[in-house]
Amino acid sequence: MEIDLADLGFWRRPLKERYEAFARLRDLDLPVFFEEKRVPLLRSGGGFYALVRHADVVEAGRNARVFSSEPGVTSPEPPGWVRHVFGESMVNMDDPRHARLRRIVSRAFSPKMLGNLQGDIDAACARIVDDAVAAGPGDFVGQVASRLPIHVICDMMGVPDAMRVKVHARVDVSTAYSGVRPSLPRSVGMAVQNTLALLALQRLVIKLGRERAATPRGDLVSALVTANVDGERLTDRELGSFFTLLLVAGNETARNTMAHGIKLLTDNPEQRRLLTEDFDAHIGGAIEEMVRYVSPIMQFRRTVTEDYDLRGLHLKAGDKVVLFYGSANRDESVFPSADRFDITRDAKPHVGFGGPGPHFCLGANLARQEIRAMFRELFTRLPGIRSVGEPELLVSNFDNSVRSQPYTF
Ligand code: HEM
Repeated sequence: MEIDLADLGFWRRPLKERYEAFARLRDLDLPVFFEEKRVPLLRSGGGFYALVRHADVVEAGRNARVFSSEPGVTSPEPPGWVRHVFGESMVNMDDPRHARLRRIVSRAFSPKMLGNLQGDIDAACARIVDDAVAAGPGDFVGQVASRLPIHVICDMMGVPDAMRVKVHARVDVSTAYSGVRPSLPRSVGMAVQNTLALLALQRLVIKLGRERAATPRGDLVSALVTANVDGERLTDRELGSFFTLLLVAGNETARNTMAHGIKLLTDNPEQRRLLTEDFDAHIGGAIEEMVRYVSPIMQFRRTVTEDYDLRGLHLKAGDKVVLFYGSANRDESVFPSADRFDITRDAKPHVGFGGPGPHFCLGANLARQEIRAMFRELFTRLPGIRSVGEPELLVSNFDNSVRSQPYTF
């Protein structure tokens, strides 16, 4: 099988074949360069070195001075007009701009704030399972997994109920898009729709921010638009970008972990038995193993700022590298029998939440909290819950995304 990570066809292959291809790439002495074609309006072209070993991904993630997140981290590199929409998003920034934004928004993710959210998360899980029971067996993604993360993000931000229908509708449009474009005419349409939906979401939260700046409440939007002790606050545009970043980064990722998770626990009954026999003892390890095994975000890109030697590969300033988190998470030198789903292994060194560096997932603890609460509610109230048949996966080079997963209980 010829391997071309820049070819859209590669990402349509079954996951198993893709993992085999990455295993072959990991065995090579040096990272391979893949050429990307320019597509008018959609892609800038160029190419990238594929970092597929755990050690290489960690090295690049940690050294953000050399491996820059500017001007963007998605791949293929989008053209300027798409970048403009996400321009003020911290995931695409280096320090000091990145550090300033991260300092302001991390107050939303402090242990105290997350502790305050627990009651809301538990109540939301209970309601979701009530509705799922009333609806009967069906699609786990639509009925269960997709409902929690967006709800939690709206709760955190203090999005009023009246606005949520609009937010949900826009998020649905924005996530219908995938990193891989099947054909040009359809893709331009999808990219435009996606961008418009994200801009509309930004406008919604900017309006909310102005209301909260005038009359602050106890919610996160109020905290972000009013100055902290150092006099720092988000501008309108930064607030808009932060909200869409949360929706893009925190919605599908947690949803997909739960959707793949229910299938993994069904396909591996001995692992499920371990978990359900002592939920508290095993759920922490099970969540890390799910994130390792699934790698909900399969890759992010960096641009090299100066000449650099990476394990004998001579990188030049301006070169692009793509950090394949999904491949690093199957590296046998770190995770023996890496293709085995094992909730008792030490999965902690996984890079599913990004490498150890300034961009390490800000929402990792929130995601863990959501997944834990949802599985606790499901296994307590629906002990017979299991996936049925195969999931429908989204074709993407970025998200390991499940469109639907039949299930019963
Ligand atoms: C299982 C669920 C999740 C996974 C697998 C995941 C994965 C990731 C990864 C790989 C990155 C690194 C980006 C990079 O390398 O440049 C990241 C960053 C980020 N994530 Fe998550 N994420 C998850 C859940 C969440 C949630 C629930 C939120 C918030 C609601 C969130 C918010 C963010 C933010 C704001 C960043 C950017 C951090 C920065 O640039 O400093 N994530 N995430």
